[in-house]
Amino acid sequence: MFIAEYKSTLIRIVKEIIMPSWVRVAVAIFLMMLIAATNSFQALLIQPAVDNTLFNTATDNTLYQIPIMIIVVTLMKGIAMYYQQVLSASTAAMINNQIRLRLYSSFIRYDIADHNNSSSAKMISLLVNDINGMMGAINLLISGVFKNLFSAVFLIAVMAYMNLKLTLIALIALPLAIVPFAIVYRKINKYTKQNQEQLEMFTVVADDGLRAVRLVKSINAENYEIGRLQRSLNGLYRIMWRIARVSNIPSPLNETLIGVGTAAVLFYGGSLVMSGNATPGSFFAFFAALMMAYKPLKSVGGLGSQLQICLICAGRVFNAIDKKPKITDAENAKKLENVKGNISFDNVGFSYREGVKALDDISFNVEAGKHYAFVGHSGGGKSTIMSLLLRFYDVTSGAIKIEGQDIRSVTLQSLRDNISYVGQDVQLFDLTVKENILYAKQNATDEEIIDAAKMAEAHEFIIQMPNGYASPVGQNGQKLSGGQRQRISIARAILKNSPILLLDEATSALDPISESLIQKALTKLMEGRTTLTIAHRLSTVIKADRIFVMQSGKIVEHGTHNELMEKGTLYKDLYSTQFQE
Ligand SMILES: Nc1ncnc2c1ncn2[C@@H]1O[C@H](COP(=O)(O)OP(=O)(O)OP(=O)(O)O)[C@@H](O)[C@H]1O
Ligand SMILES: [Mg+2]
Repeated sequence: MFIAEYKSTLIRIVKEIIMPSWVRVAVAIFLMMLIAATNSFQALLIQPAVDNTLFNTATDNTLYQIPIMIIVVTLMKGIAMYYQQVLSASTAAMINNQIRLRLYSSFIRYDIADHNNSSSAKMISLLVNDINGMMGAINLLISGVFKNLFSAVFLIAVMAYMNLKLTLIALIALPLAIVPFAIVYRKINKYTKQNQEQLEMFTVVADDGLRAVRLVKSINAENYEIGRLQRSLNGLYRIMWRIARVSNIPSPLNETLIGVGTAAVLFYGGSLVMSGNATPGSFFAFFAALMMAYKPLKSVGGLGSQLQICLICAGRVFNAIDKKPKITDAENAKKLENVKGNISFDNVGFSYREGVKALDDISFNVEAGKHYAFVGHSGGGKSTIMSLLLRFYDVTSGAIKIEGQDIRSVTLQSLRDNISYVGQDVQLFDLTVKENILYAKQNATDEEIIDAAKMAEAHEFIIQMPNGYASPVGQNGQKLSGGQRQRISIARAILKNSPILLLDEATSALDPISESLIQKALTKLMEGRTTLTIAHRLSTVIKADRIFVMQSGKIVEHGTHNELMEKGTLYKDLYSTQFQE
């Protein structure tokens, strides 16, 4: 039952996680074997020690020999233990890092559509909570199980060597140890899955509240958020309580089995000594070996539920790793080269959800070096056009071409290299100003960075910051004003220096000075590039070479500002409601 259900996960753990570090794991296992061997040797020494010293058959030689042997053996055991523990801990840390990196690499490559359907908090929960759950048993595996397993096996061998019948009596109840685990196995399975999902929810709720802390404060919703987290924690508590109830069933039951074994050995072994069929030394030694063997046997027995939790978490991690992006390079993808900026949308249709058209049979041509503006009511499909050009999604029908080449037939890297995108929501990283600007071109010189910042009208405020270009901007640029954030993102786009520029203007209004600074920056950025702008600003629209008016996923009017003012209907409406003061 157990193994069958998790067989493939187990095989993958061994193959993909343990095998790459097999040398370290093998050395650790060898050291564990050495430690186990010294353990059983210590048990073996008890017989001569007891019989020779207590019962006075000692010669001068054995008086020295045994204590010296004990010192040598324990010294060896100490050294082996130290190296085994250091090696195991560092191997576990290494494996942990590798699997985290692999999972993160998968996440960051997911399609945008998959990111839309998940959340960063859920992914972080997998990166932290599920990998921790998974590592629990792997840690045990490389740091404890083998030690315990070998110790148990060696000690049982010593026992069998001393007295086979007594050994069988001692271990008669052992197979029964599987029973308690079989009882709780189903429940642990169910609760562990629930637990990981609840942990995910907890991360999502905490992340939601903290991310929106400004809004939360402004509407005095702190208590509401605390309540939300509390409910999530209550759910977590209920599951943990259930897990505690079932996962602790095996251990007391095993304890009882051990009691039965011990009693049987005492009874039978005692009678052997009393009838003169065994020496007290051999009985002591046997009994000591039995006591020493129970502890590792118990640990191995308790591994069942640990391993189960590990396999459930590992299953979730592997699922997440296995999800591959659908938007990838075609088999014979070529590099997109010599881009001037001729773009065409040929009968492009696109749906985010089946049956709901976000773009409906859109066709238009863009000439290199010109400036095109998209306007229209919210939800009309303007941002979608840019997402499709960047291949965040693939078109549902029709084709998008750059220099006559279908963008699905060129490499993703070369496509995105040729496009600078300044999005509707500015994205800055929790890095310094400089690192944020050079994000699009890691090998930029300081001079290039400063030039870009100057062009973006950002240099002045940057040098007034406490550490200039080395000042941190905070999470998503929280330490900057809205206009400053936008100018940094413009500087980033200037530095990237691509022939095609996509500008999805922020809808949030800025003060007139900031607005005019940004306008100046954008004008410089647009120079000599093919620019597609989603415009909310009057000035951007008036100067555009062509304006596309979008409504419900269609282009309903197009022309220059003057043409549209003359013959357009929707544009005139928009113009009067949105842009006229
Ligand atoms: N990730 C998504 N999943 C599902 N539907 C989406 C998604 N993104 C956008 N949509 C839907 O697609 C339609 C077009 O959205 P789009 O973002 O292109 O509008 P827009 O013209 O840019 O609007 P705005 O001016 O408000 O930015 C809308 O109806 C929107 O609800
Ligand atoms: Mg938009």
